[in-house]
Amino acid sequence: MKEKILTAKIIAVANQKGGSAKTTTSLTVSGELGIRPSIENRSNRVLVVDADAQETAVAWARSAPDNRPFPATVIGMASYAGKMHREIQRQLENYDYIVIDCPPSVDTITTQSALLIADLVIVPVPPSPADVWSCRATLALIERIQVINPGLKAVLLATKIQRTSLSRAVLDELATFEVPLMRSRMAHRTAYQEAILAGTTVAALGRDARAAASEVSALVDEVLEILGGQND
Ligand SMILES: Nc1ncnc2c1ncn2[C@@H]1O[C@H](COP(=O)(O)OP(=O)(O)OP(=O)(O)O)[C@@H](O)[C@H]1O
Ligand SMILES: [Mg+2]
Repeated sequence: MKEKILTAKIIAVANQKGGSAKTTTSLTVSGELGIRPSIENRSNRVLVVDADAQETAVAWARSAPDNRPFPATVIGMASYAGKMHREIQRQLENYDYIVIDCPPSVDTITTQSALLIADLVIVPVPPSPADVWSCRATLALIERIQVINPGLKAVLLATKIQRTSLSRAVLDELATFEVPLMRSRMAHRTAYQEAILAGTTVAALGRDARAAASEVSALVDEVLEILGGQND
């Protein structure tokens, strides 16, 4: 019997709006995937593609201490622009998961390139009317790309959620969108900002970040569920 070659599942994190938590979501999800065991009983091999010329993700991973590197490889690929998907396809057999942190660009050629090859796109949306409004442009782009890449699944992720009536109203509104809203959400927590500064995952921050760590664990469980549970 021919041995099945495992290829990476590709998750894009995209939203045209700046500051919507794309990089935080990308690194949080990839860090958690990177510390989990794979089906072959080793740690998942995770690649983060930083598709944003600002290279925030690259900078975050670089700030990790030498004795505790960030549990995923982070590579800047913004310069490939519309050819990025070809470069990523060359990496498919080297990783279990590839997470693409998309730029907040109106000129969306890099984002399009990511969506062409992604299995799942997560659209993070913070709780403000402007963010809810502007995510529609990203959803329209996703719908167009799904014609070419029909396997592309899309979900909304509520981020920076607070215990306010505005957050509740935004969650209610997002739940009415055609694109499903993830059950999991990321609350507004300083732990996410601390993890960025330390180049680490919230799980590694210890007791103080317990709530963030369990939120992230549930988020990644749900991502794996959407992807079909297994890396196949
Ligand atoms: N859940 C959260 N709780 C608290 N702060 C958060 C959370 N998520 C993101 N932030 C903060 O919000 C800011 C923007 O987040 P981030 O850089 O992830 O957004 P982005 O969409 O990647 O931005 P850009 O469009 O510039 O690439 C950062 O300062 C980040 O620390
Ligand atoms: Mg970013």
